[in-house]
Amino acid sequence: MKILLVTGGAGFIGANFVHYWLQRYPADKVVVLDALTYAGNIANLDTVKGNENFTFVHGNICDQSLVEYLLAKHEIDTVVHFAAESHVDRSITGPDAFIETNIIGTYSLLKAAKKVWLDGDAVLEGHRFHHVSTDEVYGTLSATDLAFTEDTAYAPNSPYSASKAASDHLVRAYHHTFGLNVTTSNCSNNYGPFHFPEKLIPLVITNILHNKALPIYGDGQQIRDWLYVEDHAYGIDLVLQNGRIGENYNIGGNNEWANIDIVKTISKLVEQEFINNEELAKRFPTAIAAIDKNTESLITYVKDRPGHDRRYAIDATKTNDELGYQPKESFESGIAKTVQWYLTNAAWWQSVIDGSYQSWIKEQYS
Ligand code: NAD
Ligand code: DAU
Repeated sequence: MKILLVTGGAGFIGANFVHYWLQRYPADKVVVLDALTYAGNIANLDTVKGNENFTFVHGNICDQSLVEYLLAKHEIDTVVHFAAESHVDRSITGPDAFIETNIIGTYSLLKAAKKVWLDGDAVLEGHRFHHVSTDEVYGTLSATDLAFTEDTAYAPNSPYSASKAASDHLVRAYHHTFGLNVTTSNCSNNYGPFHFPEKLIPLVITNILHNKALPIYGDGQQIRDWLYVEDHAYGIDLVLQNGRIGENYNIGGNNEWANIDIVKTISKLVEQEFINNEELAKRFPTAIAAIDKNTESLITYVKDRPGHDRRYAIDATKTNDELGYQPKESFESGIAKTVQWYLTNAAWWQSVIDGSYQSWIKEQYS
């Protein structure tokens, strides 16, 4: 039985991980530590609220004494560290929060883990600090480059990816120097339920339903490697169970798409949903999908993201071979489920859009 501290568990991937974990390991205990920034949403954890093995703590990972207190009080043996500032565009307009949370916050967690697990009277056997990182630390690929492996040299290009790279290095150093039991996973782009609608896929779905422009940065030919979020949780599970201490594991879906093609695919899927279900036209009467079905006409090419990475692609051979990892969801089924989820959970994204995100997006696009 494990007792987990999940940082950032009220965010997109963290919340999906908590759902996954408590379903798969109902006897385990999960404590979530989350600062509930604009991206954190306690409603993402509604389904586990009454679970006696689940505890939510509103707090900041930079608060080292709080983390030490939680590790000791709950007898935590496993940290799964998701908490981060995660949106590349925000790291360009305001990098400070990325340095604070992603670098200082990770450092603070490492110090707390070392103090409680290693520096007391006895080392806590079997402890684990799992750090959730990204493929963006490897930089960018051309169309013909081989996919990123765990041996690809780090070359981060945005303040976001630079801050994640710095945190990865600190995690590695705490293992090498102090003997902390760490693992790190570097995952490609996730999509699925509870994805905050500032990111491409949920932004496109919700904008289609609101009859708003679908902004394509630059020429729209940038490539991302998409993975259904539950398959990310599954990959982390395998790393926690059988990953070797001190190692990095790439997690990816072998599923590269140009942005413009993703947007066109989603447009078609939403149109099809409106054809299949007449109720949708009543719920979203201004959506083009409810009127003349030419959703793609909402596509609007806009100024490119500064320093925009051209292509990401994950080579997950090590994770596949060592841990037996294979994503369970195909892109076809995953994206269809995701569109369905946004159609059924309009109250969730509507309240997110009406919140703080609204003023930020106004600033960006006015
Ligand atoms: P998110 O922005 O949806 O959620 C981040 C969560 O962290 C929020 O709940 C927020 O309130 C919390 N948080 C932020 N700062 C905090 C602080 N100082 N203290 C405590 N909590 C804080 O992010 P996400 O997309 O779920 O990403 C989770 C992790 O996975 C991140 O580390 C990210 O770098 C990594 N990752 C994301 C993707 C992706 O496609 N989204 C892919 C690979 C890796
Ligand atoms: O690769 C993993 C990373 O994926 C994670 O580490 C990040 O936390 C996560 O946010 C994501 O980063 P991206 O920058 O790839 O995701 P985003 O959804 O912001 O953008 C996906 C692509 O779509 C990217 O090439 C930029 C482009 N884009 C994005 C938005 C929001 C557009 O063309 N228009 C848009 O409006």
